[in-house]
Amino acid sequence: MRKTLTLLIAFCFVVGLNAYAQSNKVVINADLANHKINKNIYGQFAEHLGRDIYDGIWVGEDSDIPNVDGYRKDVLEALKELNIPVIRWPGGCFADEYHWKDGIGPRDERPTRINELWGMVPEDNSFGTHEFMKFTELVGAEPYISGNVGTGTPQEMSQWVEYLTYGGHSELADLRRKNGRDKPWHVKYWGIGNESWGCGGNMTPEYYADQFKRYATFLHNYPGNHLFKIASGYSDGHYHWTEVLMQKARWMMDGISLHYYTIAGPSWGHKGSSTDFSEDLYFSALYKANKLDEYITGHSNIMDQYDPQKRVALIVDEWGIWTDRLPGSKPGFLYQQNSLRDALVASTSLDILNHHSDRVRMANIAQMVNVLQAMVLTKGDQMVKTPTYYVFDMYKVHQDAEYLPINVDAKKYTHNGKSLSSISASASKDSTGVTHITMTNLDPKNDQSVTIDIRGLNVGKVLGGRVLTAPKVNSINSFDHPNTIVPDDFNDASLSNNELTINIPAKSVIVLGLK
Ligand code: AHR
Repeated sequence: MRKTLTLLIAFCFVVGLNAYAQSNKVVINADLANHKINKNIYGQFAEHLGRDIYDGIWVGEDSDIPNVDGYRKDVLEALKELNIPVIRWPGGCFADEYHWKDGIGPRDERPTRINELWGMVPEDNSFGTHEFMKFTELVGAEPYISGNVGTGTPQEMSQWVEYLTYGGHSELADLRRKNGRDKPWHVKYWGIGNESWGCGGNMTPEYYADQFKRYATFLHNYPGNHLFKIASGYSDGHYHWTEVLMQKARWMMDGISLHYYTIAGPSWGHKGSSTDFSEDLYFSALYKANKLDEYITGHSNIMDQYDPQKRVALIVDEWGIWTDRLPGSKPGFLYQQNSLRDALVASTSLDILNHHSDRVRMANIAQMVNVLQAMVLTKGDQMVKTPTYYVFDMYKVHQDAEYLPINVDAKKYTHNGKSLSSISASASKDSTGVTHITMTNLDPKNDQSVTIDIRGLNVGKVLGGRVLTAPKVNSINSFDHPNTIVPDDFNDASLSNNELTINIPAKSVIVLGLK
């Protein structure tokens, strides 16, 4: 009898422990909210690279592909649905080889150059300043222009600002009028060089800090326009560059950039396929994507020492998964497919950016169309929305909403001896009082139950939500099957005593509204 009792107690203990190990607990601290998630975290990046601009955005008025004044109609319509707040252009590395005067005036008189960086293809400059500015207007986004430090001059950059934003009469403002635009444009975000430590000129941080100040001096605020000047930052965990720039030039900058690409494979030479991968590359992509948290924390800590008020923003103006190019695609065009795995890379990265939104006030996924982790892919007159597109669609509820601090205590997803939290989440409250939770279950095999304790907020009801998942982690939307991965209704959430219980499917991302 005693032995049976002991066994029963031991059994209950093990079951109890197991239940504890399996539980996923999230706490939303609405009472600690103190800032908004800047909508610009949901920004995009379009470079003169591969088929991002030409073919992807711009086909010209004479194209057989349906277009609005030369811009692809299908792409425009898809992008408009995402509420894109800001678009960075013309690069990337291309920015430091771009001379803006090549891209103004009658198109048939613009010079053809060589895009040496990206495939050695002709660049006919048919998409230039006016075309970009009109594109941002059509999409409803703000422009973020990346100026040329590498092969340009302070005068050239300064004149670009005058051409764009000066409302009075001057040779350049009148040239803008002659080229079809009477009113000056409003341009706030201005990058001074790109990757100036690499493709932007291979500079040292000390040299670049001086160059940054020199260029920034001659970028004027014409009446009605105020520039937000962004210094070229480094990538990953290279903190010395940030340290030197903050030390020497912080008083002249409004933001400093950070680039971080998720490379699932072992090296830049072996980044891994975008379609053909096993759990190894699935796990390592998500593991590496999570490194963004460590790098933002590292750069923010340095910035905090020099700028505890957080006046200078960290601008993550290139991020996303970078895989090997699709077999058969042109070298240098960075064309890759986009799978469910990449959607989860996007959702966990956006959660991380939300968590750092006190310092991170803009981010621009690379890139918008047909390049790297794109929103849409095109082939002739066909277009598909990628799984990443749908994540941006689901997450747009966080734009300019109040950030709600969140703690996640979840089961680990372990593979080949490495672990990461199987649940990623973030939450915000919008101006109409609706709270949104976005959550990802990274575990590719197991559905999970998550309880969410909501502090500082009385929730009356669950408004419903959407879920994005697919049969396999490498499922894709192809031109033949464009709707393999599309969001579906999500109803597996119940509320009791202000505690929410969600059953989230394996390898999925959800968004849920509460009021
Ligand atoms: O996005 C592709 C390239 O990656 C960009 O041009 C450059 O800034 C980065 O190295």
